[in-house]
Amino acid sequence: MRTWPHNVVAFGGDYNPEQWSRQTWTQDVELMARAGVTFVSLGVFSWSFLQPAPGAFEFAWLDEVMDLLGEAGIAVDLATATASPPPWLSQAHPETLPMTREGVRLHPGSRQAWCPSSPVFTGYAVALTEQLARRYHEHPALAMWHVSNEYGCHHLPCYCATCDAGFRAWLQRRYGDLETLNEAWGTAFWSQRRTAWEQVETPKATPAQPNPTQALDFWRYGSDALLAQYIAERDVLRRHSPGVPVTTNFMTMDHFRLLDYVRWAPEVDVVSTDHYVVHQPRDASADPRADPVAEQSFAGDLTRGLAGGAPWVLMEHSSSATNWQPVNRAKPAGAMLRDSLTHVAHGADTVGFFQWRASRAGAEKFHSALLPHAGPDTARFAEACELGAVCGRLGELTGSRVRAQVALVWDYVSARACAQDAHPSSAVDAGQVAHDLHAALRAAGITVDVLPPGADLGRYAVVLVPTLYLCTQETADSVAAAAHAGAQVLITYFSGIVDEAVHVGLGGYPAVFRNLLGVRVEEFFPLLPGEQVALDDGTTGTLWSEHLREGDAAVLARYATGPLAGSPALTRRVVGAGAAWYVSTRLDRDGVAALLDQVCRAAGVGAPVPSAPGLEVLQRVSDEESPAALWTFLINHGDSAVPITLSGHDLVRDRPVQGTWDLPAGAVAVVREA
Ligand code: GLA
Ligand code: ZN
Repeated sequence: MRTWPHNVVAFGGDYNPEQWSRQTWTQDVELMARAGVTFVSLGVFSWSFLQPAPGAFEFAWLDEVMDLLGEAGIAVDLATATASPPPWLSQAHPETLPMTREGVRLHPGSRQAWCPSSPVFTGYAVALTEQLARRYHEHPALAMWHVSNEYGCHHLPCYCATCDAGFRAWLQRRYGDLETLNEAWGTAFWSQRRTAWEQVETPKATPAQPNPTQALDFWRYGSDALLAQYIAERDVLRRHSPGVPVTTNFMTMDHFRLLDYVRWAPEVDVVSTDHYVVHQPRDASADPRADPVAEQSFAGDLTRGLAGGAPWVLMEHSSSATNWQPVNRAKPAGAMLRDSLTHVAHGADTVGFFQWRASRAGAEKFHSALLPHAGPDTARFAEACELGAVCGRLGELTGSRVRAQVALVWDYVSARACAQDAHPSSAVDAGQVAHDLHAALRAAGITVDVLPPGADLGRYAVVLVPTLYLCTQETADSVAAAAHAGAQVLITYFSGIVDEAVHVGLGGYPAVFRNLLGVRVEEFFPLLPGEQVALDDGTTGTLWSEHLREGDAAVLARYATGPLAGSPALTRRVVGAGAAWYVSTRLDRDGVAALLDQVCRAAGVGAPVPSAPGLEVLQRVSDEESPAALWTFLINHGDSAVPITLSGHDLVRDRPVQGTWDLPAGAVAVVREA
């Protein structure tokens, strides 16, 4: 085995040689060397080629590919190949196929057609994993194991009888007895009291709203069931291939909330994720997530948070167009490098792509690749070669960490619960609120660590709690402790409303934050689409407002119009060495920027380099050297050059920079400061 490339930023992507002839394999390896590829993820979807029939294994072709890659010095992230079962398995065991909430059994013929609870599927997956681990654990090309692929994508949720049984067993572990389950699920409502475990099922299609606690528990169960699948394979790898890191690629993009990655992250040896730029028809001034650049930055900060601040692996992104959006835009020249280095700026030490060579056939034949259909004599392949060279020059910063003084608490469970129906407003989206704050800070040049609840908030100067609808007492206590210790804490509307069982805290919202904030919310006044309220500081609010009763907090702004005119909208309470701020409406963009500016000033937090439109700035530091080494990433996402005043060596263009100089539109500089 070999170690994962660390003298360079690892560069490569998914390699699917089973789609090509032997001759092409040789050419592939030559071209990989030309492009500076240092790793590939091999065999992610090759189960039917590795096991053509039950008990029959064919490894000769993979031996050959592994040898070719090993001889070329390319590290292999070897897949367990279990993402998609072969057709014979689905045919022999139709019970392994997933079922919709209407009770329709899905068919094989695409991918990931398997039930997350199926022990039959696990049996086959673990058997293949064991064969691979035994065969390749000492292979000189092997550097990492890649278990399955994008767990949760396509096969969740499943409502089959196996899942009913699995869910029931999970609930028995969680609640112990039926009485406790009835209490947690609030079954006194709508006559839903269960009197025997057989009455406890997955939340299938129902005439009216499902029980919210049942629905949330089922989502938790789905995540845990897949995690158990992952762990089953991982443990086989650890047994037969000790010392080789094991990962599985997460999907930390905004539109995927399939799994609770907070529970997954401790189970992988290195956090890896996929990211694709999505062009949405929405207006970015109304929702920052519609700006693909802002969304990408958030995803990077979230991935780093899941990794506990350690460098992470960008397993897949795209060199150009995807194939699964309504219109699949090709990336303009320079975007491949810019996107890749944006991920590195946010803490990635590996930049991977889906995929090495564009497929000729199948559902993804129009998806871009490092090597396009038109071949190596293309601008796209030239860009890949350029990126490979830059990744080589960035080797010195691998292992370094991103510097941030602001934490933003992000919880998958809460976001999921917040999106449930029958709420005061269906327009409240925790992701949108989090992105509102994140995008404003990013524009101001301030870096944010997106952290799971329970993370250590102690070292942060600013702590943001955007619409943490579901909040445990423990998390609320850690937020309060951060304020007492000196942080400026900002909490936004519809936070701290329910507990883990989705039961409302009584006595005035937000029950768990009431004392910290020094305010009490009596009633919600959500706003209709297009409706606005004015605040007496000149800002406006949309989407949401609240009837707030003042306590011992200072009122910074009041509602000036609407039914709440005169009552507080924005408050601040001094707490210990810090303060707790509360904002009860969705402020307009300028309002958010101005508020965060005040919060950051109070905390003494500023940008390392003056901000400019389109400019993104992050710093990575390594204290392994003394004095600590510092790299400043300057990414110009805008259409015009930005003047920069900074001296050092730009690793992208490999030349010294000094005094004030122009960063051209679309360009990236990584300056090692003198
Ligand atoms: C995901 C999958 C890949 C491929 C790409 C296409 O990341 O893991 O197999 O389908 O999407 O964008
Ligand atoms: Zn199932």
